[in-house]
Amino acid sequence: MRRPMVAGNWKMMGTRSEVEALSKSIVAGVSAISEVEMAVFPSFVYLDHIQKTFSGTQVAWGAQNIASERQGAFTGEVSAEMVAEFGCEYVLIGHSERRQYYGETDQIVAVKTMRAFEAGLKPIICVGETLSEREAGRTFSVVEGQLEAVLALENSNQTLYNAVLAYEPVWAIGTGKTATAQEAQAVHQCLRERVAKRDEKLAKALRILYGGSVKRDNAAELISQPDIDGCLVGGASLDGQHFLDIASLCNRSY
Ligand code: 13P
Repeated sequence: MRRPMVAGNWKMMGTRSEVEALSKSIVAGVSAISEVEMAVFPSFVYLDHIQKTFSGTQVAWGAQNIASERQGAFTGEVSAEMVAEFGCEYVLIGHSERRQYYGETDQIVAVKTMRAFEAGLKPIICVGETLSEREAGRTFSVVEGQLEAVLALENSNQTLYNAVLAYEPVWAIGTGKTATAQEAQAVHQCLRERVAKRDEKLAKALRILYGGSVKRDNAAELISQPDIDGCLVGGASLDGQHFLDIASLCNRSY
């Protein structure tokens, strides 16, 4: 069985004091959650604080992005090795906001996945279609294509055993529109079947999270789907109680 996971992507949100208060509220309530793996993804500048706050708790943390280069003269970039030094276990790779606003291609996503692997970080690889792609009936081909780039990596099996996938339909992010549990399940199943063609054991073990307007009122239905192994939460993870409640809803044994 796959251990459920609830991750909070804090994006470029929160002042220092807000992040401190949010972290504190999560730490205060987390002991009630036993089965779900929880992780938070703050901005780089808060990683030091997050490491201090969450060390010794059951909450993991990670970065929202890493550079595609290992090191060097790349002003403004942050390497995988650097974030690993702050105790990050995970890193988000290829979030749709990176793909949309910063031109991250499938190829860049694949390279960053490699960088994560080299630095001992577990990548959470994000895929998802836009509204026009969905309307054109291209959802499955788009997400499979995005996955394909990672499967094409030389050591992809080894990498994917330490990875998590996240299906985040672009049209559901920050819009209040969630894919129905059935719509999400269909895509998760498609992704798992694609991985199974490569390696059935891997497909069974690979966690696939759903993201896109996950809230307290839809988390239970989403997690009840056989191929949905947890949630990648944006807006609702900025409220400690909401985030904990979503984790409780996903707190099933595995
Ligand atoms: P929302 O939950 O705010 O829609 O964001 C989802 C997301 O992008 C998580 O990575």
